[in-house]
Amino acid sequence: MRFAVIQGPNLNMLGVREPEVYGALRLEEIQQKLDKAVADLYPATDIKHFQSNHEGQIIDFIHGIHQRCDAIIINPGGLTHTSVSLRDALASVAMPFVEVHLSNVFSRESFRHHSYLSDQAMAVISGAGWRGYLYALDLLYRQCSVEA
Ligand code: DQA
Repeated sequence: MRFAVIQGPNLNMLGVREPEVYGALRLEEIQQKLDKAVADLYPATDIKHFQSNHEGQIIDFIHGIHQRCDAIIINPGGLTHTSVSLRDALASVAMPFVEVHLSNVFSRESFRHHSYLSDQAMAVISGAGWRGYLYALDLLYRQCSVEA
């Protein structure tokens, strides 16, 4: 199984950026934990990591993995609340995806309560910190195994 883990704007700043909200781990450390989980727990699985601060680059990446990936884990950062284009990009490749937020967006400012992606997502995990990515991986692995 092939999964892509996409991180949107400002997530390259994890560890430095508001650690009380987003946790102390750097993005690279989270990626290493996911790689280890894949190696230890999910046989025959490959994950590809991608982060960009640019909406167009994220959209290009999504188009590029079409038919080369089975599912997507995405933390769209602030694009969650603004981007019709990101929603359309995910729809255009028709791949299952899980939307992850480190923080509980529903306990924060009201502009974070709306997502342009959530109604299309297989699941939304918000407020579980970095482990949210692990839970998303586990869900997609099990779901894709059932479908295969
Ligand atoms: C976030 C929540 C968003 O509202 C915010 O813009 C982010 C990070 C999260 O992981 O909690 O950049 O997606």
